[in-house]
Amino acid sequence: MSATESEKVNIQGELALQTLAMPKDTNANGDIFGGWLVSQMDLAAGIISKQVTKGRSATVAIENVTFLKPVSVGSTISCYGRVTKRGRTSVHIAVDVWTWHMLTETDGVKVAEGLFVFVAIDDNGKPRPLPAES
Ligand SMILES: CC(C)(COP(=O)(O)OP(=O)(O)OC[C@H]1O[C@@H](n2cnc3c(N)ncnc32)[C@H](O)[C@@H]1OP(=O)(O)O)[C@@H](O)C(=O)NCCC(=O)NCCS
Repeated sequence: MSATESEKVNIQGELALQTLAMPKDTNANGDIFGGWLVSQMDLAAGIISKQVTKGRSATVAIENVTFLKPVSVGSTISCYGRVTKRGRTSVHIAVDVWTWHMLTETDGVKVAEGLFVFVAIDDNGKPRPLPAES
């Protein structure tokens, strides 16, 4: 996607994960299964969490996931994330999912959004303070 296209569809955050929606990921309607999409969003947020926590972290909460449009098989799934809040041990990461038409790759559509809370954890799985912002 070019910078101009990105501005046109008003994307927020950094591209953290991109994948293809496959036939095995469909629901009974033939569209992509919501649980699969949430797992992609969780992975994307996890990648951003790793940058912030600089080590191990775990999802403690998934808040306000909304599925805005159905997703078709063959769509490119792009997860964009951004940090919305830093706590003592936790970080809030908003994730938006965009798809592009399978053939033309134009007219991006936002299909889902949600907020993921990660906690930095130590070797014993206990919360640890976030490192200073670099
Ligand atoms: C993540 C985990 C280590 C946190 O342990 P905990 O004893 O609950 O920790 P605390 O109560 O000290 O909370 C730690 C931070 O998480 C935040 N937090 C805890 N529960 C939360 C919730 N439901 N929603 C949002 N934030 C939450 C707290 O506000 C705190 O943030 P802060 O330090 O920035 O103020 C523990 O809950 C855990 O291991 N959960 C399982 C994680 C996991 O396996 N995830 C993968 C999915 S299966």
